[in-house]
Parts: sequence; structure tokens; C-alpha cells
Amino acid sequence: MTKLFTNIKELIQVRDTSIKKVLGKEMNSLPTLKNAFLLIKNNLITDFGLMKDISNFSADEIIDCTGKMILPTWCDSHTHIVFAGNREQEFVDRINGLSYEEIANNGGGILNSAKKLQETSFDDLYTQSAKRLKEVIALGTGAIEIKSGYGLTFDAELKMLRVIKKLKENYNIPIKATFLGAHAIPTDYKNNKEEYINLIIDEMLPKIAAENLADFVDVFCEVGYFSVEDTDRILSAAKKYHLVPKVHVNQFHSIGGIAISTKHNALSVDHLEVLTDEDLENLKTSETMPVSLPSCSFFLGIPYTPARKIMDANVPLALATDYNPGSTPSGNMNFVVATACIKMKMTPEEAINAATINGAFAMNLSNKVGSITKGKLANFFITKEIPSYGFIPYSFGSNLIDEVYINGNKF
Ligand code: NIG
Ligand code: FE
Repeated sequence: MTKLFTNIKELIQVRDTSIKKVLGKEMNSLPTLKNAFLLIKNNLITDFGLMKDISNFSADEIIDCTGKMILPTWCDSHTHIVFAGNREQEFVDRINGLSYEEIANNGGGILNSAKKLQETSFDDLYTQSAKRLKEVIALGTGAIEIKSGYGLTFDAELKMLRVIKKLKENYNIPIKATFLGAHAIPTDYKNNKEEYINLIIDEMLPKIAAENLADFVDVFCEVGYFSVEDTDRILSAAKKYHLVPKVHVNQFHSIGGIAISTKHNALSVDHLEVLTDEDLENLKTSETMPVSLPSCSFFLGIPYTPARKIMDANVPLALATDYNPGSTPSGNMNFVVATACIKMKMTPEEAINAATINGAFAMNLSNKVGSITKGKLANFFITKEIPSYGFIPYSFGSNLIDEVYINGNKF
């Protein structure tokens, strides 16, 4: 089955296969073709070019895109979309003056979500999560990473990872699973963190590896959560099972999380609302992708990742949502791109690179998604009629997506 998209006002992010990620200074350039065509066969991109060079007009279906643009779908490399219920009461508590940290210290926060999740059945959790997944695909996300970390018991962590596995089976976008058992210290282990880490290392990790339930491992490396030493222990243990690290670091404090993550060749380090010069030096000499989560900064009112500082040092940057019930109850990558431009002073070119090809890198998926490239998955979206691609972040809050295609089919 071939489909030919014609008269595309601008085809965005056209790349050859060799590009895995785009570094800081190159991020300001976004390759596009004006008045273009795109040809797909079954689930793959097979050709693209200028309308004037189109050689073969025959296709099973021809879709006219006059006035509209095509972008590769967003690559959301950091989410927690498997969760039970919501935490809107904490939202109100914050409006009334409590801080995110105070709420967590009072037993709210991650522990509140863990309690809810432990009491929720597999089927109910799957239904809630699938609804969120469908929601974000309709918003243009075509590859996603999903973390565990709201279980915090052997059974509940496995339940979360099995929900992710079922999502992988039932939805045909690339989904990567991350084991985040070290998301918070469960109440039962409040005074015995070591024992919880032993549970992660001696019981959870072997079982997860035996059932092949995770692609990556994550730790919330932060004051009051897991220390650099804890992170080192967990990442070392996960290495035996070939779980690549993607680590929550520098959300509130810079405590050495970046150095330990790069030492373990982490695929990504995520959050970075706080970033010292030493942290940046560390990133410069690593292959690790820094990931910024601007919707989290927006929602919690905390600093934004210093994107300019990172990109000016010629270090790459990816953007992701962090969709979760506490710090970021939104999975809208269009909003992420707009917020990165508005609040972090990223140009539309930089933000689009960060939300597509660099996001793909942060999931080890650069060979499959993240750009309009021959042989990659036909995962892309057609915009409404817009004057320029910069109009997407400029019109923050408007939905400018007309159609989303996943594996060559309309979603
Ligand atoms: O990435 N910071 C750690 N974890 C999540 C939020 C957890 C929560 O509040 O439920 C995050 O922001
Ligand atoms: Fe997160």
C-alpha cells in the first residue's frame, strides 16, 4: 500500500540516515523542503523531494496537503503515563502556599501516587494508561518512553511494567520501558533505605530482567531521595542485566548525579533545572543526552533548564514532557516546544530538533524515528494550514495538528 502526500507547503526535518542527534550549535538549523512530496509504502517512508522533481505520480492513495506542513511525530523520551488517579488536591495545596517538597515530606507526592497505584487493579491501571497514551498520540507523539516508579513494592513495580508491556503489544508506536524502582523511599523503609535498595537489586532487577520487562533503568538522584552512592550501586547492578541508565538528576540540587550518570554511560540525564559549570563540563565530554522538561518547570514554578548555556557549549539537548500526576500532569509536546521557545529562549528550529531527533536519541530510537528519512517509520503529522513552522510554538495553546499518521496509517 503506497500513499503519496503532495503539495506539502513545507516538509520539516528531512535528514539522511547517518544523523543520530544534533549538537548544540547545529540545532539552530532545521533542514526542510518547500513545496514537497512524501511517499510512504506500508509503514515506512520510501521517498521525498520537491514537487517539481516528482517522477512517479502513481500511488494507491494521493493526499493533497496544500497549505499544510508535515513534521515527524514528536519523540517524548521521558514520561510516567502509567499512574493511578490524580493529585489535584496537592495542586490546590500548592496554590495555597505549600511547596512541592513540603507536600512530599508530609507523605504526599510520589508516595501518595504509589498508595493509589498499589490499590488499583492491573486492568484498571491499563485502561487509565491507555487513555493517556491515545491522548498524546493524537497530540502528535509517535514514540514514547514510559517509566515505572509509582509501585515501590515488588508486586506493584511489576504490575506497572506489565502494563507498559501490554501497551507495547496493543499500540504500534515505539514504546521504551524504564524501571524506576528508585523513585522514592517507600514509607515502610523510611528508616531503612539500604534495605529497599537491596530489594531493588536482589529481587526486582532479576525478575524484571528474566521477564524482559525493561529497556532502561532510572533513579531519582536527589536530596531526600537517592544519593550519588545509591545511584552508583543501582546503576552498577542494572548493568549486569544490560539496562542502560536514564537518570533523574539536578531537579532541585546539583549533588553529583550528572557525573555518576555519565560515568555509567547514561543514555540521558533528565530535568537539569539546576546546572553547575562542572556539570556542564561533564556533559561536554560524554555521549549522554541532556533532557529538559519545561512543562515541569512551568507547573511547579521552578527554574527552567538553562538551554542556551547548554547549547552554546555545543552540547545537545532534548525536550520531553515528564507527563506524571505530581509535577507535570500534561503530555502535550506542542506545549513543551512552545514553552521551550518562550521561557528557555530556544529558537523554533532548536526546539523542533530537541523534540524530534534528539528525543529519539534519548530513547535509542534514532534509527527508526525523529526525522523524515528514507527507511524510517512513517510516523508524522500534517498540520492545519499555517504560515510557517515557527507558528507552532508562537500559537501556544492552539491545536495546529490536522492528522497524525502512525506506521503509515491515520491515527
Ligand atoms: O520527574 N522528580 C521525580 N519524579 C517525577 C515527579 C514525581 C511526582 O511528583 O509524582 C518528575 O518530576
Ligand atoms: Fe520524571
